[in-house]
Amino acid sequence: APTAQAAADDDRPLVVAHRGASAYAPENTLAAVDMAADMGFSWVENDVQRTKDGELVVIHDATLARTTNVEELYPRRAPWNVRDFTSKEISRLDAGSWFGTRYAGARVPTLEQYMTRVSRNNQKLVLEIKNPQLYPGIERQTLKVLSNEGWLSPARLRSRLVVQSFSAATVRTVHELRPGVRTAFLGTPKIAELAEYATFADQINPSYMTISRGYVASVQAFDGPHGRPLEVLTWTVNTAADARQMAEYGVDGIITNKPDVVRKATKS
Ligand code: G3P
Ligand code: CA
Repeated sequence: APTAQAAADDDRPLVVAHRGASAYAPENTLAAVDMAADMGFSWVENDVQRTKDGELVVIHDATLARTTNVEELYPRRAPWNVRDFTSKEISRLDAGSWFGTRYAGARVPTLEQYMTRVSRNNQKLVLEIKNPQLYPGIERQTLKVLSNEGWLSPARLRSRLVVQSFSAATVRTVHELRPGVRTAFLGTPKIAELAEYATFADQINPSYMTISRGYVASVQAFDGPHGRPLEVLTWTVNTAADARQMAEYGVDGIITNKPDVVRKATKS
């Protein structure tokens, strides 16, 4: 567990391992979470979707094709949507071989399995609810799993969890269901819209390609629903030069596939 790094982890900008340390291990697997921990990174990001039988699983794409061997096992079930496969079927897939033979046998984790590992590693999580339009009720269901796994205790809510989405409606729903949870909107709202976003989102998390120093400052000038300035966590920054520029812009955090590169570039 990365206790020695804990202080550095809370320095600004926060460095968040995107889909785990996904440049070095297969994205959104327990191996990618462990890789981040082994490299000394507490903060990880993941993506949550739902299976045919209603289990929450951690995977980025709406289909299983890119990151598993589903085509090989189920050649006749194109386009291999996550929502068309049961949790049992998904649990048999290999989610590591596409990345490298040493990861053969890595699985698509259920959200429960994922949270158990993040807890064991003493890590912190930016959880993305992905494609919520495909999964009615996924906001409430995600909060239930987080609650069952002990992640909605006041201590964790303060410092260890952010729930984010590209869907403003989903971010608002999470905030309304559990106002104590810190939330983030993924995107780059217009300045004129920020006051509205600040009623339900603690962070505005934009692509690094869409922002300027002035935009970052404008966001941070608003107070979020918990009375603290809105934060900006930008993604997906994978080079030292871009990381340095984002640090100069004053972002609060950088979401990256290469947390080591970003830390080195921004914390000398
Ligand atoms: O956390 C930000 C980032 O993950 C958003 O884009 O497509 O990688 O989920 P995406
Ligand atoms: Ca994501």
